[in-house]
Amino acid sequence: MVNKYAIVLAAGQGTRMKSKLYKVLHPVMGKPMVQHVIDQLQALNLDKIITIVGYGAEQVKQQLGSASEFVVQKEQLGTGHAVLQAKSLLADKKGVTVVVCGDTPLLTAETLEQLFNYHQENQAKVTVLTTMVDEPAGYGRIVRDQDNNLAKIVEQKDATTEELAIKEINTGTYCFDNKVLFEALAHVSNDNKQGEYYLPDVIEIAQANGDKVAAFSAKDSNETIGINDRVALAQAEKLMKQRINRQHMQNGVTILDPEQTYIGPDVEIDPDVVIEPGSILKGVTKIGADSMIGPHSEIVDSTIGESSKITHSVVYHSDIGSRVNIGPFAHIRPASQIKDDVKIGNFVEVKKSIIEETSKVSHLSYIGDAEIGKNVNVGCGSITVNYDGENKFLTKIEDDVFIGCNTNLIAPVTIGQGAIVAAGSTINKDVPSEALSIARAKQVNKDDYAKKFNKLLK
Ligand code: UD1
Ligand code: CA
Repeated sequence: MVNKYAIVLAAGQGTRMKSKLYKVLHPVMGKPMVQHVIDQLQALNLDKIITIVGYGAEQVKQQLGSASEFVVQKEQLGTGHAVLQAKSLLADKKGVTVVVCGDTPLLTAETLEQLFNYHQENQAKVTVLTTMVDEPAGYGRIVRDQDNNLAKIVEQKDATTEELAIKEINTGTYCFDNKVLFEALAHVSNDNKQGEYYLPDVIEIAQANGDKVAAFSAKDSNETIGINDRVALAQAEKLMKQRINRQHMQNGVTILDPEQTYIGPDVEIDPDVVIEPGSILKGVTKIGADSMIGPHSEIVDSTIGESSKITHSVVYHSDIGSRVNIGPFAHIRPASQIKDDVKIGNFVEVKKSIIEETSKVSHLSYIGDAEIGKNVNVGCGSITVNYDGENKFLTKIEDDVFIGCNTNLIAPVTIGQGAIVAAGSTINKDVPSEALSIARAKQVNKDDYAKKFNKLLK
C-alpha cells in the first residue's frame, strides 16, 4: 500500500469575494467551503492532511480543528509557493499527495478516489483533474499536444486568444508523486503576468525531466467549480442544495418543492418524512420517520422524533419527541425538551424548558425556564414570569395541573400535582397539590350603570 497525503490550499484572501470573511470560510449550505473539502478528504483514509493557511489562519485552524495539520504561508506568492510550504512535512516521504483547493466545495471523495486510481494505474508522476466547461473564463486552460497528451496549463491572464478558446480546464485538483512534486517546485518561477509561483507549472518541469504526466477528466463539471466570487458562491449553494435534496429523496424522503427546501449537509432524515416548501433544516439535525416539516419551518441543531408535525415554526437547539404537534407560528428556543405527544400551538414561545408527555400549551403563551410535568394543560395567554431584570428563575408545574387562561406564574414558583389555577391569576406563592388557586381581583357588577353612562355621553 502506497502512503497517501493531501494538501489543501487555503491561504488566499479571496479578494474577488469582496468580503471581510476569508474566502474558504464562506459557507455553502451552512458549512464553510474548506470544511466541505476536508470532510471529503477524510473519507479517503489518508495518512496526513495538511492545510496551508495564511489570511484568516486562526479562524481556519479553529474551524478545522484536529481534522488537519497546518502550515502557515506568510506571503501569498501563488499556489506553487503555497504547496512548497509543506516541504518540511512531506518532501522526505515516499507516496502520493493529492492537492486540492479550499475553494472547491463540491468536489466528492468518489472523484478524488477515481483520480487517485487513474494516477496509480497509469503509473503517472503528475495527474491533473480536468473537466470540460461551456464558460472557461477564469480557469487555467488545459493545453494538449498533437498526440492529445497533456502538455501544459496556461492561466487565463497568460493565455493567447487561441488558448482562451479551450474549454477543457484545470480544476485545481492534482495527484503527485511526492518526490517529483517537491523537486519540480524548486524550479517553478514567477515569470508570468501575475508574478506568482504557479503550481500548474510543475507539469512542464516534470515532463522535461522525463516524468510521466497525465490528465483525468471529471465527468460532472458541476463538481469542480472553484468559488472566486459571490456569483459562483450562489451557484455552489444551488448545486449543493440539489445534490443533498436528491440524496434524501432517493432515501425515501418526500420533498414537495426541492427548489424551495434547504437541507444542510449534516442533517439526517428518516424515510417517509414529508418536507413542505420553504423549510430550512440546518446544523446537526435529525428528523424521525413519518414526520411532517413545513411549510415554512426552520429547524437548527435539533432532533425531531417520529410522526411529529412542525408547521410554520422555528426550532433551535432543542429535542422534540414523537407525535408532537408544533405550530403554526411557534418559536422553540435553545435547550428545550419537548416530550412525546405534546402539543405546542400558535404564537407560543418555549425557552430552556422541559415539557413532559401529553401536555398542551395551545395558544399565545411564554414558557421560559420551566419544568412542566405530564398531562398538564396551560391555558391561552399564560406566562412564566422568569426574569426580574437581573436573574432568571425556575417555574415548576407538576403532573396533571390545569393552568387557566391568562395566568402569570411569577418564578420561582411550584404548582403541585393535580392543582388548578384559575384563569387570570397572578401566582407568586407555591400552590399545593390538588388545590384550587385563585389570585385575581373580585368581580363587581353595578346594575344599570352602563345605561346611565351611555345616557350621560349623549
Ligand atoms: C487556480 C489555478 C487554475 C485553476 C483554478 C481552479 C493556479 C495558478 N491556478 O486558479 O489553473 O483553473 O485554480 O479553481 O494554481 N492559495 C494559497 N496561497 C497562494 C495562492 C492561493 O493558499 O499564494 C489558495 C487559495 O486560498 C485558493 C487556492 O489556493 O483556495 C486557489 O487559489 P485561487 O487564487 O483561487 O486560484 P485561481 O485563480 O482560481
Ligand atoms: Ca479559485
